Amino acid sequence: MGTGDLFAEFDQGIMPLAEGGVILRGFALDEVTGLFADILDIASRSPFRHMTTPGGYRMSVAITNCGDYGWITDRRGYRYEAIDPATSKSWPAMPSSFLALAQRAADMAGFPDFWPTCCLVNRYEPGAKLSLHQDKDEADFAAPIVSVSLGLPATFLFGGARRNDKARRFPLNSGDVAVWGGASRLHFHGVDTLAGGTDSLTGPYRFNLTFRKVR
Ligand code: SIN
Ligand code: FE2
Repeated sequence: MGTGDLFAEFDQGIMPLAEGGVILRGFALDEVTGLFADILDIASRSPFRHMTTPGGYRMSVAITNCGDYGWITDRRGYRYEAIDPATSKSWPAMPSSFLALAQRAADMAGFPDFWPTCCLVNRYEPGAKLSLHQDKDEADFAAPIVSVSLGLPATFLFGGARRNDKARRFPLNSGDVAVWGGASRLHFHGVDTLAGGTDSLTGPYRFNLTFRKVR
């Protein structure tokens, strides 16, 4: 399917995030129920856990992964591993529904041939947040980041190339997909403290799928 067909089918709104970055409003809205079922299946095999940062802090966001590689952190640093340290097994395979969605979103944002090898699954509970950071543990910065929101709403913070650049605030709702690459691939970003609430699908949580080409 060419980009023209995708644009014809998607009319809910493409919001600029930065140079090389967009938010595709509601892009995954028709798929959230299936995506959530897949998340529960992944978590039944590689459970959500609160990892420790290299500095010794417990992350308020609980994480798991699927795909060839999983992103992890512990006192030794941030990195990708093919084996889940909690199970000593491979991470669950990336569901074909995840891959297809990530590729469609990347195409729509102008990054054809995206082939993610990791999907980091984040789970936020009220009070959880993700401080400003760069996604820079990947070998290949030519590939974009594709980030899918499910469940409770959040505020995405998107800054610049330097940590001190002012971050702009963008609402992220269930079914929204953010894609950034090119000039903004290494821009600082994060998620503001999650407010309380109950989502009809996910209950007291927000989930986020982050697709990356690790290598
Ligand atoms: C991330 O930057 O890894 C996650 C962003 C999000 O949860 O929306
Ligand atoms: Fe990130």
